Parts: sequence; C-alpha cells; structure tokens
Amino acid sequence: MTKVMISDLATYRRMLHLLLNIHFLLSCLVNLSEANSTHLPRITFTDREKAFKRLRLPGHGTPIQILQEGQPDTVTAAGQRHLHSVDFQNLHKSPVERKVLWEVCTSDATSRACHYNITVLHKRNKANQLFLCGTDGKETSCCNMNISEPSSLCTPSEHMANIKTSMKEGEPSVLIESAGHADLYITHSGAQDSVGIHKFGEKRVRPANHGKEQQYVGLVLSRGREDPLQDKVYAFYKEKNTDLAIDSDMWLPFVAQVCMADHGGPKNYLQFVWTSQLNARLFCGDPDSRQHYSELVDVAALHADQWQDTRVYALFRNEWGMSAVCIYTIEDIDNIFTQSTFKGYGTGIPNDPRPGTCVVDSTKLPSDVLRIVHKNSEMEGRVLPLKNSGPLLVSHHHYTHICTDSFQNKRNQHTMLFLSLENGRVHKVVETNTTAFFIAEYRPFSHRAHILNMILHPSTRKLYVRTSSELVQLDVGSCAHYGDNCEECILARDPYCGWKDTHCTPHTPGTLQDVEKGNHTLCPKMPKNGKVSRHSSVRSGGEAAGGITLPLQSRYFLRCLVSSHHAEYTWHHNGNATACCPTEQQCLLLIDSMGPEQEGTYSFVMVEMGYTRTLAEYQLQLDSSAAGQASSPLAWVCLMAAVIMSLCC
Ligand SMILES: *[C@@H]1O[C@H](CO)[C@@H](O)[C@H](O)[C@H]1NC(C)=O
Ligand SMILES: *[C@@H]1O[C@H](CO)[C@@H](O)[C@H](O)[C@H]1NC(C)=O
Ligand SMILES: *[C@@H]1O[C@H](CO)[C@@H](O)[C@H](O)[C@H]1NC(C)=O
Ligand SMILES: *[C@@H]1O[C@H](CO)[C@@H](O)[C@H](O)[C@H]1NC(C)=O
Ligand SMILES: *[C@@H]1O[C@H](CO)[C@@H](O)[C@H](O)[C@H]1NC(C)=O
Ligand SMILES: *[C@@H]1O[C@H](CO)[C@@H](O)[C@H](O)[C@H]1NC(C)=O
Repeated sequence: MTKVMISDLATYRRMLHLLLNIHFLLSCLVNLSEANSTHLPRITFTDREKAFKRLRLPGHGTPIQILQEGQPDTVTAAGQRHLHSVDFQNLHKSPVERKVLWEVCTSDATSRACHYNITVLHKRNKANQLFLCGTDGKETSCCNMNISEPSSLCTPSEHMANIKTSMKEGEPSVLIESAGHADLYITHSGAQDSVGIHKFGEKRVRPANHGKEQQYVGLVLSRGREDPLQDKVYAFYKEKNTDLAIDSDMWLPFVAQVCMADHGGPKNYLQFVWTSQLNARLFCGDPDSRQHYSELVDVAALHADQWQDTRVYALFRNEWGMSAVCIYTIEDIDNIFTQSTFKGYGTGIPNDPRPGTCVVDSTKLPSDVLRIVHKNSEMEGRVLPLKNSGPLLVSHHHYTHICTDSFQNKRNQHTMLFLSLENGRVHKVVETNTTAFFIAEYRPFSHRAHILNMILHPSTRKLYVRTSSELVQLDVGSCAHYGDNCEECILARDPYCGWKDTHCTPHTPGTLQDVEKGNHTLCPKMPKNGKVSRHSSVRSGGEAAGGITLPLQSRYFLRCLVSSHHAEYTWHHNGNATACCPTEQQCLLLIDSMGPEQEGTYSFVMVEMGYTRTLAEYQLQLDSSAAGQASSPLAWVCLMAAVIMSLCC
C-alpha cells in the first residue's frame, strides 16, 4: 500500500517537473515572440483590481446610450420592447425598466397591437428627451419620449410616425435637430435594393439602387464650415469586391458623402434619391511594403474645433487576421471629393456646380450633373491616412470595436483609443506623436464573451461594454493599480493619471507624468535607505520573516506576482541571475533539489526603462533534522493543477 503511494508520488513529481519545464519553456517562447512587439499591453486589469461593475441584462444589438448627463453613472440600454436605466453607483437598486408605449398604437382605435422592436435610441437636445424608433419588420415608427414623466408614452416624431420600411437594429444612425425639426440619418446594410444611406424627417431621401453588397460601420457628421450649406454626413462602409481574381480582397473599404441640404432630384430623375452622394476608396496600409488592410470593421470620430481637423480612427482587418488602425482627416476626405477625377470619366466634368457640391435646391441641378452622380459616383483618388503615413498600429489581435477620447494635458493633446477584442477583453492605447503605446488590457469577463457594443463617457472615464447577457462598467480612469511609487506611475504613461505626493492619482494640473517617453527620471529622488523607499521597494513574499526551511533534496518553488509586461524580471541568488518570463502575471522559480548550495537569499528584481526595483526577497534554509522527508503530496497536486490551468489559459 505504502509502496503504491510512493510510486504514485514519484510519478506525480516527474510529471510535475516535466509540466513545469514545458510551462517555463512555453511562457518564454510566447513572451519572447512578443517581447519587442508594441502590441503587448503593459498592465492587465482583471476582476482582482475591482475595476469593473456588472449587471445581468439581456442583450440586443441596439447601441447603449448615456442619456442623462445629470446622473453620470446612469446608462440607458434598449431591450426588445423596454428601456433599462442602470445606475452604476447604486447597483443594489434594480434597474428602472420601462415598457415603451407607442402612441401610434394606442391612439388609433382600430389599431392592431403594435409589435415594435426598438432599433434606434438617441438623446435629444432637450434635457430628459429621448428619440427612438421601432420596427415590426414591415414598417417603422419613430417617437419622442420625456423620461421625467412617469408614463412611458412615446409621441410620434413629426414626419417619422409611419415609415414604410423596416430599420435594422445595430445600423449606424445620427439624429440632427435644428430649429423645430429633426432628421434621422440611418444606413441599411446588405445586398437588397434599399442598401445605402437613408434620411428621414421633413425630407425623405433614399439611396439609388446599385446592386452592390455593402456593410455600414459608421456615420460621421461634419458641420461648422464657413458656408453651412456645404455641411455633410460621411458614411463609412465595406463593399463586397466584385473582382473575382484570386489575389483580390474580399471587401473594399469606402467612404461616402451626402449633403445635408440634399433633398433629391427633380420629378423625372432621382426624385427623393441622393444627388450629392460620392464614394471614395480608403487606403490603410504600408505604402512601401505591399501590406494593406481592406476589411473595414469600425470607425470612431474625434471632433475638432475646426471642421477640417476632425479625425476618423478607422479599424481594419486583413485576410491574415491582422488588425490595423488608420487615421483620416475630414480635410483629406473632402479634398478627394472636391478635387479628384471621377472613375471611368476622363475630362469634361461640369464645374458649375461640380457634381457632389451642395446646393440650395437639389431639384434644380442640371441633368448632366445628376447623370454623373448617378452613373460615376466613385472617385479615382483614394483617401490616404493622415500625412500619408502608415497605420497608427498593427496587431495580430482581432479587434471588433473602437472608441476614442481626446485628452489635453499641460503640454500636449493625446488621443486615447479603446479597442475591444473578440474574446471580450479591451485594450487601452494612447497615441503619442503618431505611435501607439499599449497601456493596459482589461479583462471584464472570466469567460469568452462577445462584445456587442461599447461606449465611453469621457468626463467620468467610464467605458460601458455590452454583451448579450451583461452590461459592464469599466473604470478606465483608475490609477491606483499602476504602483505605489512615482517611477511606476510614470512608466504607465497613462495620460489620465499622474504622480502627486504619495500616490498615482487622476491627472490634475499638478501631477507628474510623461506620456511621450515614460521617462521616470523626472520623479523626485528618494533617499535609498529612507523609510518610504524601503517600505515601498520590498514586497513581502508572504512567508514568515525568518525564511523558509526546506528538507534536503526537496523540491520547492518561489512565486512572485508581476504587473508590467514591459519589464524584465530576474531571480538573483548568490550572484547567479535567472531570467523569468512571467505567465499569468506571475514568475515562478523552481528549486529542483534543496541542498546547501540552494540556501540563502533569493531576490526578485524588475528592470524597466532603466528603473530597477526589488519586488520580493526569500530566505531559504536547509532543515537538517528532517532530511529526506518529502513535502506534502497535496501541495504538489495543487501546484500541478495551477500549472495545468495556466497552461490552458
Ligand atoms: C526592441 O527593439 C529595439 C530596437 O529595435 C531595441 O532597442 C530594444 O532593446 C528591443 N527591446 C527588447 C525588449 O527586446
Ligand atoms: C424582435 O426581437 C425578437 C427577439 O430579438 C425577434 O425574435 C423578432 O424576430 C424581432 N422582430 C422583428 C420584427 O424584428
Ligand atoms: C418633461 O416632463 C417634465 C415633468 O412632467 C416637464 O416638467 C417637462 O417640461 C417635460 N419636458 C418637455 C420638453 O416636454
Ligand atoms: C515625433 O516623431 C518624429 C519622428 O519619429 C520626431 O522627429 C519628432 O521629434 C517627434 N516629436 C516629438 C514631440 O517627440
Ligand atoms: C530622461 O530624462 C533625462 C533627464 O532629462 C535624460 O538625461 C535621459 O536621457 C532621458 N531618458 C530617456 C530614455 O529619454
Ligand atoms: C550558478 O549557476 C551555475 C549554473 O547553473 C552553477 O553551476 C553554479 O554553481 C551557480 N553558482 C552559485 C553560486 O549558485
């Protein structure tokens, strides 16, 4: 009996040893291949850091909205028939749920029961006013709701109560309110006749039939021009490539323009159809190598005071599974539409007006202009990224959504990017001087999750992500977990955070930070043997202060948690240094067989950008009295389980 136990134990140990070795080897391989790539986020945030608040909420493809500015942590999400308002400051209170009462359904005595699914949700200019649309698959109705009133009556929006088409959920849309009336721009993706940009409101404008398959990812409003008549809406989409050559891309990325003043052509030609729509290819890639990205995934606009400077951050993918982000300015897009030649149409483009120019009355446009817009609306020129540069970032990760925020500190303006991954994680990236720095990875879900949509509330620095079952708030402005000393706060390079007195805190004019370089030498010099320094530079290994006593020939492992994935970690013992490639945010050191040579101090040291810090120290000593005794089999089993789990993750 005893013999069996021992042999089992020996097998366990052999297996364990093998596994540990594989584990170290694999983790080193994985990390080495990424060590110098820019897309390894420096810090990982998991549930341990308490950066997330979550609520179970059945999901749906309608974007979530932050509707009540007065209550910053309250988010409204549309369900199929209901609106759910969630107050993340009081999560113990259940969400306020309202079933939308469509007045078009209640007022009409002869009405059949309306079965509208909510497809569109927007905040209106007036406080506590919502705009929403619902569809029953055949027709659509849009209405306005006052959420300070107890009833959830939704009163028909002018000109938008009985739209004889269906609107799909998840399509990009913008609501434009101006003196007394509202216009809704919404896209229709797919391959049917109605594919394109639609405008509802006082004037109904449709896309021309073109028979192409298009998937829309975003609409960007461009106003504020010297001549407001020239204000436009831009639509970003990918189009199925009809060129079937073996090396051609499956999708092509495009931007389209339409004039906000456009209300269609005259009675006999393009009536109620866009007369100002022009399309242009986008290019994202490295102009020198032949690498490019053709599948547009998502866009996020960063509006500037000058309309020309508004930037569009576009997320792409290619057929090899690589992702890229390219930046376009509205000025560059506008230049293509106003200056490029028309594809398949040499010279002789009318110039008064040039096709695509916004005019006061589009029904009076000359027929040669209408014909060019109708037949040759694609530009010859392609829209290139900002300053003809390559992508801002390239990654082997599969990103699904992008959000942006502009952040102004003392010296510079920085752009923050939030990119969701297909497994439910989110990367936080800062753009500095046209390069991307990966600050952090958030892991709000312990399982694989599909993020349906994502929205950032810039002033509270909360990011909301929605899956089909949960709504999660990510506190992306939290600074405490970057470390408890100035150097690590600076190395984080997070524009939202800076060092002040004794803490890494949210940015204020007095905080220290160096987003461009992460140069920690700007930190105040601490006396090396001062109280603060000693307190903060050695974390206890969690073992008794007197050290760890081990029997002869026993195996043991030392474990230390790490935070930065950009640092190099080393175990030091008696002048020997062993490099460690952390996995799952920890470094293990295996003591193969305890003997007199293994006695002594083991220190665990990190080095990042010239900053060195001892994170832990362990004292190992030999227990001569209990020589030869094996350590508890249970402990080995637990360790093995841990190793197997981390291998699988
Ligand atoms: C990454 O590459 C740069 C230059 O290509 C080099 O200076 C740096 O030491 C490398 N870093 C690592 C961690 O290998
Ligand atoms: C409304 O939503 C439900 C659940 O998502 C779906 O089964 C149904 O087909 C939808 N109806 C319409 C008209 O889209
Ligand atoms: C919304 O309802 C509140 C409370 O009934 C009312 O005070 C407010 O004027 C309403 N707002 C609008 C725009 O009708
Ligand atoms: C930005 O980068 C360019 C080229 O990499 C460099 O010449 C320039 O000095 C940098 N600007 C700043 C403010 O660091
Ligand atoms: C950091 O700043 C110091 C002092 O300004 C300078 O000497 C050093 O070269 C800088 N280090 C890096 C990596 O830029
Ligand atoms: C340092 O490591 C080498 C090789 O692993 C070993 O032979 C040597 O004994 C170690 N020295 C000390 C002082 O532990």
